[in-house]
Amino acid sequence: MYSGILEALWFILPAYMANSTPVNVSKLRFLETYGKPLDGGMYWRGIRILGDGKTWRGLVSGIFIGTFSGILQSYFHADSQVFLQSLRPDDLLLLPVMTPVLAFMLSFGALAGDLVASFIKRRIGLKSGDPAPLMDQLDFVFGAIFFSWLLIGSIDYNRFFIIVFITPAIHVLGNFIACAWKLKKKPW
Ligand code: CTP
Ligand code: MG
Repeated sequence: MYSGILEALWFILPAYMANSTPVNVSKLRFLETYGKPLDGGMYWRGIRILGDGKTWRGLVSGIFIGTFSGILQSYFHADSQVFLQSLRPDDLLLLPVMTPVLAFMLSFGALAGDLVASFIKRRIGLKSGDPAPLMDQLDFVFGAIFFSWLLIGSIDYNRFFIIVFITPAIHVLGNFIACAWKLKKKPW
């Protein structure tokens, strides 16, 4: 059970890294010039295609950090396996193999999924930054899994369901911690 969660997290980690990078990088002043919107400010049927919240800076930095995370994972695979197994001595743990190409696909997919969700949000009349519960938290997971499927040709549904279930939970937990640390005013 727990080993299943650890295995799932190990697999999806590059997507998590890719997804959480853009918002942090957006605060870096020296990258301001690369913060141009991906849609070039263009409209479709009177509404922005994606909006100012989706930038080149976010896309490129997210792919970079996500892929880098996967490269580290592939490098430290054996050590991590031993370490995590020591936390759960009674569970058989077999971390999925991470490769740089898989990490790239997971990262690219994560950001692509986020763009698709943004496109849908604009079409249904939500402004940039307006919340779309569950879609905001899971768009990148679906994108990442889809692109990993393009590479591997199969989906581990067991792992997929674990990820879909724990990602919103991690999100809520993270927000509460950020709130407790006064990084955020409200826990949502
Ligand atoms: N971001 C970015 N480039 C991306 C994705 C995100 O620069 N490709 C940055 C933006 O500063 C954005 C922030 O990360 O405001 C938070 O991302 P997200 O919540 O996904 O965007 P929203 O502002 O909510 O926009 P949308 O409603 O289109 O999802
Ligand atoms: Mg959003």
